[in-house]
Amino acid sequence: MATSVKLNTGADMPIVGLGTWKSKPGEVAEAVKAAIAVGYRHIDGAYVYHNEEEVGEGIKTMIKQGVVKREELFVVSKLWSTFHKKSAVKGACLKTLSDLDLDYLDLYLVHLPTGFKPGPDDFPLDSEGFAISDDTSFLETWEGMEELVDAGLVKAIGISNFNQAQIEAILNKPGLKYKPANNQIECHPYLTQDKLIAFCQSKGITVTAYSPLGSPDRPWAKPGDPSLLKEPKIKDIAAKHKKTTAQVLIRFHVQRNVVVIPKSVNPSRIKENFQVLDFKLSDDEMKTILSFNKNYRFCPMEWGSKHKDYSFHAEY
Ligand code: A2P
Repeated sequence: MATSVKLNTGADMPIVGLGTWKSKPGEVAEAVKAAIAVGYRHIDGAYVYHNEEEVGEGIKTMIKQGVVKREELFVVSKLWSTFHKKSAVKGACLKTLSDLDLDYLDLYLVHLPTGFKPGPDDFPLDSEGFAISDDTSFLETWEGMEELVDAGLVKAIGISNFNQAQIEAILNKPGLKYKPANNQIECHPYLTQDKLIAFCQSKGITVTAYSPLGSPDRPWAKPGDPSLLKEPKIKDIAAKHKKTTAQVLIRFHVQRNVVVIPKSVNPSRIKENFQVLDFKLSDDEMKTILSFNKNYRFCPMEWGSKHKDYSFHAEY
C-alpha cells in the first residue's frame, strides 16, 4: 500500500499526517517533534488554529537536529476566510510563512468557500451569531491562490470544505491556471463522503479526511453525541487485528487512497496513529465500516449556514 498519494502537480503527499487543529501553544511544538521523530513527514496546520509559530518551532528544531530535511517534509496550511479578497491572499500566506519560519508551503488550501468580512476578528458575527460575508467569490480567491504558485511561495494549492458544485465552479472558471490539488473535508465512518470522494478523485483532486477520530476534543462536544472511538463494531474489528480503534479509523482512509490527519499531542498516541501501514482491513470490514454512514458532521459550522457559499446544505 502506498504511503503517499500523487498530487496533480506530480508531488507526493504522505498519506498520514499530523493534525494540529485544537493543539494548544505549549503542546504543539513537542507534538510536531514527536511526530517527526517517529516518521511523520506531513504536518497539517492553518492560520486560524493560532499555533503556527509553535508548529514552525517544532519543524525547525527537527531540521536543525538533522532528523529531517525541509524537502522531506510536506507542510500544509490554510488561507482563512477574512483574507478572501484577491489582494489579501499573498499577505495572508506570507504571514503564515513568517510564523512557520519557512520559505514555502507544500500545499496551501482555501480553508472554507465562505469569505468573511475582513478585519481583526476571525469570526465576524451578526447579532444572531451568523458569519458576516464579504463581497468576494471564491473564484476571485482562487486567482490569488494561483499567484502564490507563480511566486514560488507554495508548491500546490487546494481547497477545504468545498462541495461538488463549488469544485465544478473552479474547474469551469474561465482562464483557470491551476486545478485544485486537494480537497480537505470532514470524513469518517459517520460521514463517509462516498460521492464527493469519487467526484474529487475522478477529477484528479486528492482528498484529505479531517476529524478522522470524531474530534472528541471539539469545544462544542455535548454528552450523548455519537462517538467513533466507542463504536462497538469498530472496536471488534480492531481487536481482531490486535490494533486500536483509532488505528482502524485511520487505516479506513488509507485503503480509500484518502489522506488522513489525526490530531494528537500525546507522544504515545502520535506513534500509535502512525502505525497503520502494517495491517489491512478486509473488503467485508471496509463494507461494515462504510455502512455506519449517517451523514453526521462533528463540525457542521452552523455559524456559516446563512452565507451564500455555505457548502453543507446540499447532499453531495
Ligand atoms: P490527544 O491530543 O490528547 O491525543 P481528531 O483527529 O478526529 O480531531 O481527534 C483528535 C482527538 O482524538 C483528540 O482529543 C486526541 O487527544 C484524541 N486522540 C488522538 N489519537 C488518539 C488515539 N490513538 N486514541 C484515542 N484518542 C486519540
